[in-house]
Amino acid sequence: MQNKRKKLIIGNWKMFKDAIQASADFQTLSDNVAAKNLSIEVGVAAPSIFLADLARKTRNTVSLFAQNAHWAEEGAFTGEVSPAMLKSIHVLGSLVAHSERRQMFAETNQTAGARISALLNHGMRAVYCVGETLAEREKGLLKEILVTQLEQAFVASKIRNSQTFVGSDPNKPLLSIAYEPVWAIGTGKAASAVEAQEAHTIIRTFLLNYFGDEIGNQFQILYGGSVKANNVSEFINCPNIDGALVGGASLVPKDFLELCMKSSN
Ligand code: PGA
Repeated sequence: MQNKRKKLIIGNWKMFKDAIQASADFQTLSDNVAAKNLSIEVGVAAPSIFLADLARKTRNTVSLFAQNAHWAEEGAFTGEVSPAMLKSIHVLGSLVAHSERRQMFAETNQTAGARISALLNHGMRAVYCVGETLAEREKGLLKEILVTQLEQAFVASKIRNSQTFVGSDPNKPLLSIAYEPVWAIGTGKAASAVEAQEAHTIIRTFLLNYFGDEIGNQFQILYGGSVKANNVSEFINCPNIDGALVGGASLVPKDFLELCMKSSN
């Protein structure tokens, strides 16, 4: 089947910037994306404290995501933010299970599945992050790790209807997968296009088996890990690489815009 998936580039701001910087940078990004008429979708995953302010600035030019969302509707969960809260300020969705959350905040495939479920059941988007550590790669466990991360989370989501993963707009499926090899994140050492493609093919094959061809072909698979303006072109034109999740290189609007323009054709 021909690849008709729209490219998606999301900047992950992690725990950087203050309110003034976040607001100014987002405004710059939003104005420039509006002026450039790009063929891709540009998104930002911002710290939750800034989201309400940024949501007022998007004018639908930049898609706004959270970096995490709890699975409960509401409750006694000090310090957490629910999908319903995010939706109430017009945030479209959230990253789920970024490797920094897996490594430092006890995220598991099961909690990831619960978060995916809560988001999708609100009609919100979930960018589910998967990827192997260097030790796992060196032991030849790439496929096993990726398949386990995907399968366990989807099973834990308890979503039976595949259409729930897609939502109502087939051009913007609610679920996306971000392949982020842990050894490439924040290290300046990106995977090669060949390495990325191998992992993306494993992920696509899993999605086709799990959801069937028609639905499994709709989900975007993003590559993440030291993507910059000067290497994004290596990835973006590969089969099954449908965009990028960008950390460090998304922090300066000018650099991120350059990266987005190189991804747009
Ligand atoms: P990086 O981060 O681009 O700084 O490597 C990517 C990510 O963590 O999403």
